[in-house]
Amino acid sequence: MARSALLNVMVQAAIKAGKSLSRDFGEVQNLQVSVKGPGDFVSQADLKAQKIIRDELLKARPTYGFLGEEADEEIKGTDGAHRWIVDPLDGTTNFLHGIPMFSVSIALERNGEIVGAVVFNPATDELYTAERGGGAFLNDRRLRVASRRVLSDCVIGCGVPHLGRGNHGKFLVELRHVMGEVAGVRRVGSAALDLAYVAAGRFDGFWEVGLSPWDMAAGILLVREAGGFVSDLDGGNDMLATSSIVCGNEHIHKALAEVVKRPIPTK
Ligand code: IPD
Ligand code: CA
Ligand code: CA
Repeated sequence: MARSALLNVMVQAAIKAGKSLSRDFGEVQNLQVSVKGPGDFVSQADLKAQKIIRDELLKARPTYGFLGEEADEEIKGTDGAHRWIVDPLDGTTNFLHGIPMFSVSIALERNGEIVGAVVFNPATDELYTAERGGGAFLNDRRLRVASRRVLSDCVIGCGVPHLGRGNHGKFLVELRHVMGEVAGVRRVGSAALDLAYVAAGRFDGFWEVGLSPWDMAAGILLVREAGGFVSDLDGGNDMLATSSIVCGNEHIHKALAEVVKRPIPTK
């Protein structure tokens, strides 16, 4: 598998940030038992990881823009065509609770299109990469989305709203419809990993509402480069703007979108 120079820069940044997160994750596990808990410590770990990534990426391409979850505001590059979209720690709640399912997510956007993607889980050493037109990979292995054709055989990932976030009633209707049609529903807690799992054929599909661009930019390319289909819940292509996403192979993407969007029953 040959990686472009740009993808190598992204991979190096993700691995460097991942090492920092891994060290801090060890400390978080110790802090679980303290009364104050690891909250502040995790915010620092998150900021530290973002700084590592920003420094690496901007050192390699100083003119590119940078949109990162932890930045106060977007850095507009002098090169109007390119922008990095970064979540230094996706799955913060898992990280905070000592659950080893979190990731670093880095995407490269060129003229409004995602052309490079890295999602890295340092706790499992799983590195997902994709370049537009070059396929998607888990470490050195080429990825392909699962080929199941009917929802009744499928395991579907989703996001679940929680205290202070999302439309709980609407989600419960979506879940009620989906769980009645599928073999299993999963909630990983890192949207970037959910999408990587679809690319890897572990999940047959995934949907979530209320995501931010950094949660899904890299994952979208992973799924597409693994042969999958991705849209927002209305079938549009601008997921980063509309903040909803549904994906799977050609058949499951369509079937899942229909079930998720089924109207609320009147009684
Ligand atoms: C969150 C995760 C989670 C999703 C949330 C995101 P964070 O990102 O991706 O899976 O359900 O909507 O905010 O806060 O852990 O970076
Ligand atoms: Ca996130
Ligand atoms: Ca985050």
